[in-house]
Amino acid sequence: MSSDQSTGSETAPMDNLSHESRSFAPDPAFARDAVAQQSLYAEAGEDRLAFWAAQARELLTWETDFTETLDWSNPPFARWFGDGRLNAAYNALDRHVEAGNGERVAIHFEGEPGDTRTYTYAQLTEEVKKAANAFTALGVTAGDRVAVYLPMIPEAVITMLACARIGAAHSVVFGGFSADALRSRIDDAEAKLVVTADGTWRRGKPSALKTAVDAALADGKSTVENVVVVKRNGEPVEWTEGRDQWWADTVETASAEHTAEAFEAEQPLYILYTSGTTGRPKGILHTTGGYLTQAAFTHRNVFDLRPETDVYWCTADIGWVTGHSYVVYGPLVNGATQVIYEGTPDTPHQGRWWELVQKYGVTILYTAPTAIRTMMKWGEDIPGQYDLSSLRVLGSVGEPINPEAWMWYRRVIGGERCPVVDTWWQTETGAIMISPLPGVTAAKPGSAQVPLPGITADVVDETGASVGDGGAGYLVVREPWPSMLRTIWGDPDRFVDTYWSRFEGMYFAGDGARKDDDGDVWLLGRVDDVMNVSGHRLSTAEIESSLVGHPAVAEAAVVGAADETTGQAVIAFVILRGSAADEDHDAMSETLRQHVGKDIGAIAKPRKVLIVPELPKTRSGKIMRRLLKDVAEGREVGDATTLADSTVMNQIAADFAK
Ligand code: WTA
Repeated sequence: MSSDQSTGSETAPMDNLSHESRSFAPDPAFARDAVAQQSLYAEAGEDRLAFWAAQARELLTWETDFTETLDWSNPPFARWFGDGRLNAAYNALDRHVEAGNGERVAIHFEGEPGDTRTYTYAQLTEEVKKAANAFTALGVTAGDRVAVYLPMIPEAVITMLACARIGAAHSVVFGGFSADALRSRIDDAEAKLVVTADGTWRRGKPSALKTAVDAALADGKSTVENVVVVKRNGEPVEWTEGRDQWWADTVETASAEHTAEAFEAEQPLYILYTSGTTGRPKGILHTTGGYLTQAAFTHRNVFDLRPETDVYWCTADIGWVTGHSYVVYGPLVNGATQVIYEGTPDTPHQGRWWELVQKYGVTILYTAPTAIRTMMKWGEDIPGQYDLSSLRVLGSVGEPINPEAWMWYRRVIGGERCPVVDTWWQTETGAIMISPLPGVTAAKPGSAQVPLPGITADVVDETGASVGDGGAGYLVVREPWPSMLRTIWGDPDRFVDTYWSRFEGMYFAGDGARKDDDGDVWLLGRVDDVMNVSGHRLSTAEIESSLVGHPAVAEAAVVGAADETTGQAVIAFVILRGSAADEDHDAMSETLRQHVGKDIGAIAKPRKVLIVPELPKTRSGKIMRRLLKDVAEGREVGDATTLADSTVMNQIAADFAK
């Protein structure tokens, strides 16, 4: 490995200037028989709609073929493949069995306590048929909504596919959300059925789920008629006769005969609530034909999927969109074999993930930068104890990945041989939009690279005009794409307002981005995280990246705080790495200020660098900068109820005031 392609050691100071010149060309051996081909770009560029129509027909089995690819006569309300008919569960299950692949493993399940289960495609199909019959017997019909509040266990996948099979939309609520959050989502979707579990395992301890459902439904006034309960951890549960049913008594005893009925392509598939920075959560609505087309297309091409031989693992929880598109729909529609793990990465030890990669021979790993940075903090000797040689493609999603984490991921986990794909997309986009294609495009540490074939993402200025190479602005999508959200459930005006009003005729993603001199896209974080200091635009992500590039820093969060003189000032909160934590904090803060100044420019120097023991994170691992901004601007800290650990902010506020 030549030194210009590697940071060499974790402690090498980051050289920000060389990022853009650091580019990994596709490995020729990988490129030779890559699943994705360069010609996809030309095909899609020539006729975008014909390209998507061809993908829809190649990747999916339609009961009735469509004649119209896109109806955009009433923008921004799109209809894709509108007169086609298909069944999502049939596409994810039955057809693989019919094609002779019933014995292929669909799911290798690993529970946190170490219990395991394997489902072949034939077995998973049977379970989903039973669940479809059971839900139907409980009165669920096409068009109804089903709330799903389950841990990462196979029943979660079975439930989602059973809903899809009978044309009911699922609304999965992440198991870490509170009873109140669950209730507001149940009410907004007017769910008829809730599927939950007694509980799950979290860091070696049983943790309850059904109690939250009971609390959410306590007033008896919701639309929910039944609650189906999976027995997972054996915790005692309260029981409401007539409403509550054990999974074992309803689903497991149901008939395994069920013929999937085809629904129209625009049949609602699911609602998934996502929190904006303010206001109540938005119910993002996805429908069937277009969503499945893009989920399957991206899963196959971005991960170079070979269903016969690959073992794929996406570490996301089904409570998030990544779990929908890249645990349930993409992989199963493509007939892939995958690993599902219930627990946390450090239970019972910090090598658990790598132990699973070794045990199942995982070939494709898809995870989030936060996880990668956490593993960096734990040290590379931990993954070093396992055989990771089965890995061949690595993916990243959910937040900007700093070049250090990208390089560490490539070197320590990927053994310098695996392409790393940094995939940009959102709950709203339904599937990956901007990403390298392994074997086809180059990859630069920290850049999501280029819009996928058939996706017209762009970076525009305030007026909606495309910025040139080297420019920065707002990320937009110019033309409708198959897996786009169709609306906000029950609130079409908010859909139009939030996404389609900022720039005429374009989808506004809410992210800042820039194009480098090669035209490659670099995500700069949410627009509300972009600061303006003395008229200079600065990205929180960029400064954080600089900070974590310093050998003493494990994690960093940066906010722009109002400043009389400069408009905004940069305030940084950092967690130090290992032994650095023992050094004098004042001296270290000054060192880090100077480091950023040197790295990016004097303008980017934080006014203050506060060394903290923890950062405020949501249960999905996102840093809540809003709360840090409150502290930095001397306000009472706002609503911290979505934090994984709500005590973190008290400590930070106290330290800041010192
Ligand atoms: C951010 C997760 C940089 C972005 C799939 C987006 C990213 C938001 C990336 C959506 C990436 C996601 N690089 N930023 N590769 N991927 N984001 O809805 O700000 O949970 O708008 O969907 O995450 O988050 P969501």
